[in-house]
Amino acid sequence: MQLKGRKIILGITGSIAAYKAAYLTRLLVKEGAEVKVIMTPLGKEFITPVTMATLSRNTVLCDFFNYDDGSWNSHVDLGIWADLFLVAPASANTMARMATGVCDNLLLTTYLSCRCPVMIAPAMDLDMFRHPATINNMEVLLERGNIIIEPSSGELASGLSGKGRMEEPEKIITRLVSFFEAAAAGRGPAGDDGRYLSMRGKKFLVTAGPTHEAIDPVRYIGNHSSGKMGYAIAAELANRGAEVILVSGPVAKELDHTRVKVVKVNTAGEMHRECLKWFPGCNACIMTAAVADYTPVVSSGKKLKRGSGSITLEMKPTADILGEMGRNKKKGQVLVGFALETDNEKENAIKKLHNKNLDFIVLNSLNEEGAGFHADTNKVSIINPDGSAVDFAMKSKPEVAADIVNHLSGLLK
Ligand code: CTP
Repeated sequence: MQLKGRKIILGITGSIAAYKAAYLTRLLVKEGAEVKVIMTPLGKEFITPVTMATLSRNTVLCDFFNYDDGSWNSHVDLGIWADLFLVAPASANTMARMATGVCDNLLLTTYLSCRCPVMIAPAMDLDMFRHPATINNMEVLLERGNIIIEPSSGELASGLSGKGRMEEPEKIITRLVSFFEAAAAGRGPAGDDGRYLSMRGKKFLVTAGPTHEAIDPVRYIGNHSSGKMGYAIAAELANRGAEVILVSGPVAKELDHTRVKVVKVNTAGEMHRECLKWFPGCNACIMTAAVADYTPVVSSGKKLKRGSGSITLEMKPTADILGEMGRNKKKGQVLVGFALETDNEKENAIKKLHNKNLDFIVLNSLNEEGAGFHADTNKVSIINPDGSAVDFAMKSKPEVAADIVNHLSGLLK
């Protein structure tokens, strides 16, 4: 019951993704939220008010008036009642109207009246999503403090494939939960100026994944890093309005976010080059990558042949990327490292923090079940330069990312 007692207006607009609003409503109610649904006239063509009224356990509001008894559906009262206004799915048309202040239906008048945070989950065809008009409207909405839940990429109702699928209901719920958690703790997405995109105007370098050091054209030395933690941090920062450069080693992951530039690399040498290139222009770097400490002295151009005897591979150290950035960081730049230790965990992590001149280090332990490389969960401690530490419970990697970004945001103020 993570959303217990939260009052949420769910706005449904004319998009085929309206079918997902049914499941979203079910999840909201299951999490303890009180849900009132407003539908635009076109929204009703995609999913019926009866379905939404049943799932939300409330009357669905579509018109300014109740035509049976003449009573007024007050958008002002609705706007004051709500803790959050979630528009999901949000069509290109509704976003354009929200951006310009047109208010010819109940959803739009409620939007103009409400005093609560507004989250918008767009859903549309890929060409509509990338049209300059839509991009411009989203910029305006972001600028005014609305939170946009990026659509994902994949198969679209049009039969085309690309970006424009409304985010999955489970992921929207996760966003809501972390939003309310952060707001309750007086930190996180809510900025001092009352807006919700506290990282807007800031730029971050995030690294993720392993590096692969070639032995020959078909073999390499690598490690088990999946990149999940770094990708979750990049998404969390971008969701809070930041611009992110994600330098990623070879992983089976993609991140298609308007404000994330993904730079793919293979080797520690390539990651080193990219980090030195981007770090000077960034407010902070979060180095989650599991960078190889050694690379073969010689990488054979041809596949090595099997022989009968044993072989020895000569290795040379790679650059300590974080250490180098720590030596060169400018006043105000924040540097965050990760440490994965098997023994003397905290002492080793603190040593790394000081050696590399970090602002804090995130320690994750291999000794914990459910934490580490391929898991979807992680259990971390954040250690500060004075040795103080905050130990977090086991959480999903996106939730851990939110904790780390919350800690980081305190240092950027
Ligand atoms: N790191 C780096 N460059 C390297 C190795 C590590 O920037 N060549 C960064 C990692 O991304 C991580 C931090 O340094 O944020 C700590 O990495 P870790 O492998 O735990 O530490 P090392 O310095 O490599 O020390 P050791 O392997 O001996 O524990």
